[in-house]
Amino acid sequence: MTTEIKPQNIFQAGFTSLNHETSLENLPVIGAIPEWLAGSLYRNGPAKFEAAGGEYKHWFDGFAMLHRFSFNNSQVSYRNRFLLTPVYREALETGRLSPAFSGVKLAPGVEAGPPNKNAYFNPDVNIMVAGGRYLALTEIPVALEFGSEELNTLNAFNYDGLLDCQVFGAHPHYDFNEKRIYNLGVKFGRQSYYQFYAFDAGRARPRKVAEVPVAEPAYLHSFAMTENYLIIVEFPLVVNPVDLLTSGKPFIENYRWEPQRATNFIVVSKATGQVVNNYQAEAFFAFHQVNAFEKGSEIIVDLPATGQFTADQSLLLDNLKAQTTGNPDPARFRRYRLSMQQNQTEFEILNPLLAEMPAINYRHYNAREYRYAYAVSNNRSQPEGFENQLIKLDVYSRELRIWREAGCYPGEPVFVASPQSVSEDDGVLLTVILDGKSGKSFLLVLDAATFEELGRAYLPHHIPFGLHGIFTA
Ligand SMILES: [Fe+2]
Repeated sequence: MTTEIKPQNIFQAGFTSLNHETSLENLPVIGAIPEWLAGSLYRNGPAKFEAAGGEYKHWFDGFAMLHRFSFNNSQVSYRNRFLLTPVYREALETGRLSPAFSGVKLAPGVEAGPPNKNAYFNPDVNIMVAGGRYLALTEIPVALEFGSEELNTLNAFNYDGLLDCQVFGAHPHYDFNEKRIYNLGVKFGRQSYYQFYAFDAGRARPRKVAEVPVAEPAYLHSFAMTENYLIIVEFPLVVNPVDLLTSGKPFIENYRWEPQRATNFIVVSKATGQVVNNYQAEAFFAFHQVNAFEKGSEIIVDLPATGQFTADQSLLLDNLKAQTTGNPDPARFRRYRLSMQQNQTEFEILNPLLAEMPAINYRHYNAREYRYAYAVSNNRSQPEGFENQLIKLDVYSRELRIWREAGCYPGEPVFVASPQSVSEDDGVLLTVILDGKSGKSFLLVLDAATFEELGRAYLPHHIPFGLHGIFTA
């Protein structure tokens, strides 16, 4: 691709392919990485957007690449590998790209091929560890297992055939009290269902624990969880299930944004699998959840919400690269209060800034009352076409801390608690940052309490903007 990169669009390097795989020891570090930080940050995301036969149109459709930053004695090592899926191999061997989440811009003279049954199997969204298996996830009921050391592709994993759905989420929740993982499925058919599955003792064997009938399922990228409830936040971005199964269109093109419908909070009891309440709110959309918890007679749901769904267009690569000032209606942190006594909802905006890719001290505060949320954001006085700062929001005091450096573009932050932590923000925040000035990426380590930089480890190349990841000790 030869898209001209103008000074105000230096973030565009984040949407260009990284074709090589490498393994590097002792990355050059500026500052100091805490000695106690031991383990690996795994990142997943799209990394290659074209082949001989054309280009993918949508950011989410780039071929999945895994990255691992490992920390030991204040040293950082790095490795990256593509996931060797059938569609990736086919693109390398024949040049063919298959429409998946969105479409393909075919190269001149290239004709569209027949539908590819493997098109959706590009697990570039997230990573889950279940039963000791490292699984790369996208939103289908098949994951791709990989080796945690080499990042080598192992086998496709269909959860032992125990899932009865066509969509299976890439944002599972870990319930550390119950030692259980929960995830959300959607089954399409003459009668469609939202489903919850539980992985007991964290093993890779799901069992269905709830099933909620629905006429026109919504696109659900994540769900919320409290101590006692699983919550489907059902946006008015809906699909006719028959159309989805038969239209042959790329996935997201089958969905319709119908803001005249409500956004519903469907509250499911973990104990019984039954819907215990269904709250209606005005239309909004969110990809992610910040946190949710029960307090008195209320359920609190914090999420980065926008009044519109535009990601089918706004996250097209051409539009992302052309954008200079950011989304006019960005996601912001909202707090929804669901009153169990009055069956009503109200919300407030916790902070007016764009906030996406949220993180918390998940291990100790997920599904509990919490104080600190982290996110990528866009600077208010100098917004750019991609998020250019990290924020820490105190949801009690609403105090905001910001980390920002000119020409730098952060990805999803991941919080790692220090070994003897006593306070919620005692730990570090790890983030992969694109330094648009040099066209290279670095791993940033922030003190999560002060939001001061502790250190950074530079790579000799860029990492395309990624989606999600995990830290394992
Ligand atoms: Fe996500």
